[in-house]
Amino acid sequence: MNKGTKIAIVGAGRVGSTLAYTLAASGIVREIVLIDADRLRAEGEAMDIVHAVAFSSPVTIKAGEMVEAAGAALTVIAAGAAQQVGESRRALLQRNAAVLRGMIPEIVRINPEGLLLIATNPVDALTAIALRLSGLPSMRVFGSGTVLDTARLRAELSTHYAVDARNVHAYVLGEHGDSELVAWSSARLATVPLNEFCKMAAMSCTSEDMAAMESRVREAAYQIIRRKGATNFAIAKALMRIIEAVVRDEGAVLTVSTLVEGQYGIQGVCLSLPAVIDASGIRLVIRIPLSKDEEAHLVQSAAAVRAMLESIEH
Ligand code: LAC
Repeated sequence: MNKGTKIAIVGAGRVGSTLAYTLAASGIVREIVLIDADRLRAEGEAMDIVHAVAFSSPVTIKAGEMVEAAGAALTVIAAGAAQQVGESRRALLQRNAAVLRGMIPEIVRINPEGLLLIATNPVDALTAIALRLSGLPSMRVFGSGTVLDTARLRAELSTHYAVDARNVHAYVLGEHGDSELVAWSSARLATVPLNEFCKMAAMSCTSEDMAAMESRVREAAYQIIRRKGATNFAIAKALMRIIEAVVRDEGAVLTVSTLVEGQYGIQGVCLSLPAVIDASGIRLVIRIPLSKDEEAHLVQSAAAVRAMLESIEH
């Protein structure tokens, strides 16, 4: 009997537990297992969420050992060290690569059919490492990438133009981090390019405005961590959106971190491009048109991710 979709979350820190809460409240899955090296913490988070679920549609949520990832449609990796104030995501590489080495082979042995969604930073390098450790096809291993940054950008554009973020089409591509870029040349409001929309609405649309928005998106995590010590709500919602696309077999287009195989001349690194996500994982990576400058920036971002990988693999 199909008892509904199960999701495993490895890591019950700020991100993993906020995701568990968000997913539990969403009603889109039937079972959530929260796994953490600190079993008591996972139990405490699960108990707290169980009581919240009494107010919404039924879902089983419990703390478990790794073996309980068996049968999960998707396992989220949110374990490992998080960025501290002023620290780049890249500084977490050694520590968190070791965390993944300790768990990915075991997860795949326990759950060979499930998808893997990496949230731990630096997410692009760790997605590549998880892919290699798992031996799974690349369509089944992906990272949260710039799904969050794209949401931050759409929030910026929505505020600037006073247009609902759902009518904003604009992507942040590349590394989830310092070398990411906004694909401004393809940004659209209601299918209209930004500069045309500005004229139509008699609004300011200077390159300084754009640069300020891009910089706020790139700096968002640093700014939030300086104030509250971590980011959790928006990343949890971004992960939830990816899970929803899988569970509902949506074919949603999301900028997840995925293995790039030839697009824009980039080969063999994981970074974010818009991709079609359904129950099978990544069905298609979309090659959107980029300006020459954007393409050069994307190639530089790929080089930054590759340098990170080489720094620990050789
Ligand atoms: C952020 C962390 C999750 O950007 O990388 O909020």
